[in-house]
Amino acid sequence: MKKDLSRRVTEILPSGIRRIFDIACANPDGIDLSIGDPDFDVPYPIKKSAIRAIDAGFNSYVSTRGIPELREKLIARLQGKGLQFEDILITAGATGGYYLAMLAVISPGDEVLVLDPYFVSYANVVIMCGGKPVFVDTYPDFDLSEACLLPHITPKTKAIVINNPGNPTGVVYSADELKIVADISNRFGLHIISDEVYDKFVFDNVPFVSMSEVADDAVVVSGFSKSSGMTGWRLGYATAPKHIIDAMATFQQYSYVCANSVAQKAAITAIDFDITEYVARYQARRDKLYEGLKDNFSMRKPGGAFYLFPKAPGGDAEAFVKAAIQQKLFIIPGNVFSEKNTHFRIAFSAGDDDLDRAVDILNGLASGFR
Ligand SMILES: Cc1ncc(COP(=O)(O)O)c(C=O)c1O
Repeated sequence: MKKDLSRRVTEILPSGIRRIFDIACANPDGIDLSIGDPDFDVPYPIKKSAIRAIDAGFNSYVSTRGIPELREKLIARLQGKGLQFEDILITAGATGGYYLAMLAVISPGDEVLVLDPYFVSYANVVIMCGGKPVFVDTYPDFDLSEACLLPHITPKTKAIVINNPGNPTGVVYSADELKIVADISNRFGLHIISDEVYDKFVFDNVPFVSMSEVADDAVVVSGFSKSSGMTGWRLGYATAPKHIIDAMATFQQYSYVCANSVAQKAAITAIDFDITEYVARYQARRDKLYEGLKDNFSMRKPGGAFYLFPKAPGGDAEAFVKAAIQQKLFIIPGNVFSEKNTHFRIAFSAGDDDLDRAVDILNGLASGFR
């Protein structure tokens, strides 16, 4: 007899990115621009710290809140940059931090504003926590404005989720846009959860502004996955007011227990590792793709992260992506990140040859879809 699963299961679909990534893995001769995994390996000094930690037997449980050396170094580094927060929790990636933050701030039935397009976890984690995601349409420019947020606020609204720089759009918010969010959060008593996992990947010498430079009670989640190429090591952190971190730490005790001990030792080295060269490489790739596609595709030039989110010629992104996949170019339809099906995402964490071939395929397809 097949036994029933929870009702929750029926409300959550498996990730659409993973579906296409799995097809890409089965076609190693194709061009995989599906997943946002940095294409550089963990830099050697960071690896060495991890290896040293394993050899020294640093392989047991550690404090739920994170090892003191890492906590202290991160707090000093972040506060030195002007970020305002009371406490920090070391988490299992930014994703772990986001999940714990949502558990801490919403109750069943609460509404959470999610800017559309959005990263795949945002709405699903809200649902996993019993909340209701409310999508805020930011097309066509993906800018943040009071006019787009206000109509969605109800007495049940409890939090706003911000992603800066954004996946899938690559949008980087200005201090003025972040102040709009801070102001609305104060006016309506809403928590802000800001995912800043791409904070190091900001292009054109634009200074990155964190939500916690603008609001002293925001929850900011970030981590080392993207900046140190260690997506599999699962290490991140969250900063927030003390009472929120206390609540998140309690949930961490009963779920993840603690973040990866070895990765925490490595992260102490990672904090000092300069990735300017990697970011410059990503900026050059952004330029290559943008310049190569701009005559045939309508899109906003990304200011950060490693994604381009063009409009699909003809307006049906699923159909366009299907045609691209037939040519073994793996990209993701926009409805994986959106209530709309009009755009598609290209991850440019790939080499120049793959990007050149991708530009040729996409331009070749464009005329057939107009
Ligand atoms: C916006 C965003 N947040 C979080 C994550 C996952 O980060 P982590 O590996 O630190 O959990 C990703 C990964 O693609 C992402 O794009």
